[in-house]
Amino acid sequence: MLRRGLFRELKRQSGLARPVSSPTPPEAAILLPIGSLLGKTALRKFPTQRATFTSLFLAAPAFLFVVVDIISILNCTLLSLSSCPPSCSLIMLALRAVAAARRQCFAAVPRATAALSFQNQRFYSDKVAKFQGTKNADGRYTVSIIEGDGIGPEISQAVKDIFEAAKTPVSWEPVDVTPILKDGKTAIPDATIESIERNKVALKGPLATPVGKGHVSLNLTLRRTFNLFANLRPCRSVAGYKTPYDGVDTVLIRENTEGEYSGIEHVVVDGVVQSIKLITREASERVLRFAFQHAQEIGRKKVRVVHKATIMKMSDGLFLRVARDVAKDYPDIEFDAELLDNTCLKMVTDPLPYNDKVLVMPNLYGDILSDMCAGLIGGLGLTPSGNIGDECSIFEAVHGSAPDIAGKGLANPTALLLSSMMMLRHMGLTEYANRIERATFDTLAEGKALTGDLGGKAKTHEYAAAIISKL
Ligand SMILES: NC(=O)c1ccc[n+]([C@@H]2O[C@H](COP(=O)([O-])OP(=O)(O)OC[C@H]3O[C@@H](n4cnc5c(N)ncnc54)[C@H](O)[C@@H]3O)[C@@H](O)[C@H]2O)c1
Repeated sequence: MLRRGLFRELKRQSGLARPVSSPTPPEAAILLPIGSLLGKTALRKFPTQRATFTSLFLAAPAFLFVVVDIISILNCTLLSLSSCPPSCSLIMLALRAVAAARRQCFAAVPRATAALSFQNQRFYSDKVAKFQGTKNADGRYTVSIIEGDGIGPEISQAVKDIFEAAKTPVSWEPVDVTPILKDGKTAIPDATIESIERNKVALKGPLATPVGKGHVSLNLTLRRTFNLFANLRPCRSVAGYKTPYDGVDTVLIRENTEGEYSGIEHVVVDGVVQSIKLITREASERVLRFAFQHAQEIGRKKVRVVHKATIMKMSDGLFLRVARDVAKDYPDIEFDAELLDNTCLKMVTDPLPYNDKVLVMPNLYGDILSDMCAGLIGGLGLTPSGNIGDECSIFEAVHGSAPDIAGKGLANPTALLLSSMMMLRHMGLTEYANRIERATFDTLAEGKALTGDLGGKAKTHEYAAAIISKL
């Protein structure tokens, strides 16, 4: 208490308090150029040792800070004994100011090492996130299915019925994601991880997340467990369902693992918190390559990066620079960039010019912009998504578990069904996907068997039966 009170008072009097919005702590501003200079020199000599050097340069200041902190604590002890000259308090204040940088260095070491070791190993000469599953002896693929909570089992059943009727060569392996605690952290059961790792692909119903208590989001846990680095969200207008715009057909790809959602946050001093937006070349490159390759696959000729590099000069600046580099490998695709605020304004004014592009962006922008696009076509109920990883991919509806209508047969399975179409295309089963998708859009356009959310009276199984009749 004494220490904290004295510290606050000293800070106030000395005017040394750091502005909350300061993007770079002063000590980091000194350390980073030195680290970078040393790093560049060493890398020139030993170009293959990038990960080792980066961790060393990040670890060295971290350990220096430990020494500094011990001195700081000694100083505080002297200060609290009140026999310390005023210079002691100023030294303490100056030393305490580096605490945030120390924590940043410690937090950054394992992440940077992991990211860069990975970077050293992986070269994206081949297709990013290529489906590696194989057929069983019976000529069918096995897909893990997480039916989910609330309306999850009802909409999953509709998808299974439609797949069976379309004779899709898919066998389902139901898995349970009831969370377990492993080393004090929320985890999913080993059997589930093994199933998804074996099958390389999963279809997932919505999972309820407790608010403000209990386990962390299972959606986040799944994303982290399988390193699902790209979130793919197509939004296409549904004929027969009137929304403010007709003919919307946007494709958005969101970086899914870092950026503003890296989870590196700490308290600098009471009332001041810092949250770090982490952008790495490696994660940026893989999501950007995925975006270009996806554009080629779906026949779009343009990739646009959405960014805010005018303000986030270093982080978004890196994302943009990597995009320019990656674009050179895809000469058949036109590349450009647009500021996030400009994109939002233009999209809600007239979304149609975006129909010929694939948009790709860092995590937070993608989270918000993808929901905005869903709003343009009538909301989350019709929006599919794919969480794409190098080893496994998980496809899911964007909406939640809808506890208000669960078990009543009122749920609309379209979003999960369209997600399963994305899954089939990812697996190379494009013809089945096209057939089921055509039947789905025809049923929606006809408007005779719509569920309540689309203004109809049909039950979930009646809507599914209408699609089956059009296959
Ligand atoms: N990806 C996921 O697993 C995911 C996503 C969002 C929310 N959630 C979780 O779902 C739970 C409920 O969340 P919420 O109520 O905020 O959002 P929600 O999407 O479940 O429901 C919002 C509204 O939309 C309706 N709705 C949603 N899907 C529908 C469908 N397929 N057919 C007809 N109507 C549908 C619901 O009845 C409700 O009125 C929460 O625990 C939340 O954490 C999970």
